[in-house]
Amino acid sequence: MAGEPKRLNHPKSVYVIGFIFKIVTLTVLIGAIYQVTFSPHGPAVLVPIQKHYEEGQKSDILDEVRRQEEYEKHRHFHNVVEYPSLPESMRPVCYICHSDYPHSKSKKVRALLNMHTQFFVCETCHIEERKGANIIYKWYDPYSSNPQGPFFGTSYDPETGNLVEVEDLFSKISPYFEDSEGNQESALQLQNAPQAQDYMNVRDMLTPEQRDNVKKKFHVSIKPKGHECKNCHSKKGILNYKELGFTTNRTIDLEQLNIKGMVTKYEKFYIPNLFAD
Ligand code: HEC
Ligand code: HEC
Ligand code: HEC
Repeated sequence: MAGEPKRLNHPKSVYVIGFIFKIVTLTVLIGAIYQVTFSPHGPAVLVPIQKHYEEGQKSDILDEVRRQEEYEKHRHFHNVVEYPSLPESMRPVCYICHSDYPHSKSKKVRALLNMHTQFFVCETCHIEERKGANIIYKWYDPYSSNPQGPFFGTSYDPETGNLVEVEDLFSKISPYFEDSEGNQESALQLQNAPQAQDYMNVRDMLTPEQRDNVKKKFHVSIKPKGHECKNCHSKKGILNYKELGFTTNRTIDLEQLNIKGMVTKYEKFYIPNLFAD
């Protein structure tokens, strides 16, 4: 009859087959779109956009984890981190196994302690006292037996108020044992010491237990905990700031860190116990 659709009375199976065809077509289409846009096997045209979007969603927790991983790399037992352009034999022995960022345990102070390794050798904080000897502190320069300075961080530029920039980037404050007759002996072990050389030659052949024993040899006169802040940042500290070349106003600032607000701030928020008497 005219005007009427031709055939509406399809059997039900036709609708079912039609539906299946649609699903198959849709699946193939999605597959094809994925292949072109994101699939690692295709041209991946949208992957840069996806990356960009993910970068926009930065997570502080993830960032902290990555930083921690960096730290872990630095403190790995086998990792030898370069001591700034000093030949191996002139480096302190600690750097065979520790890096410039050796402190990691206490979250609150590690960054501050690690900062101090820029101008101290490890022994300045970690050396064990010796009977019959005083410990005195002097600037140690691996290239000179009698360094004259000016040394890092000892004075302010009166015009800018910043620390004066110095040419000597190698000298660090280092401990010496002094006996009653005034003889001085460096408390620093260098990598050219026979024991250190020996260790470096054989370390790849050692078992973990053997390594642990060697570690103990290098730690003989090393205290597990270093000096606390107030051992230096106070009037009766262990360092003679004047003899070390610090100017009077710089000395006052270093001795009174806690009064000046800076360490009071740290004390409150970071290191509740370190300053307690
Ligand atoms: C032969 C490798 C080796 C040498 C050399 C070495 N250490 Fe260690 N040290 C280790 C290992 C391994 C540990 C334990 C793991 C850690 O805490 O990183 C350690 C731990 C320490 C500790 C924490 C306390 C402890 O006993 O666990 C201090 C402090 C320390 N070392 C200081 C030093 C200083 C200072 C020197 C240089 C005089 C030095 N180390 C040389 C391997 C070494
Ligand atoms: C300004 C002083 C100071 C200097 C310099 C210093 N340390 Fe320490 N160190 C400390 C103190 C304080 C502790 C104890 C920290 C704590 O209780 O968390 C410590 C603890 C450590 C520990 C064990 C705890 C940790 O955080 O992993 C290691 C390992 C260590 N020092 C290695 C070194 C090495 C290697 C050097 C030289 C590159 C060095 N230290 C230089 C003060 C110092
Ligand atoms: C062995 C002595 C010693 C110990 C221990 C020590 N410091 Fe220091 N600290 C110094 C000296 C010396 C300087 C300055 C070095 C330079 O400028 O040449 C300094 C610098 C600083 C500075 C930078 C100040 C500035 O004006 O540049 C801060 C902050 C500081 N220390 C905080 C601390 C804290 C917090 C602790 C304990 C976790 C600590 N120090 C442990 C000796 C020490």
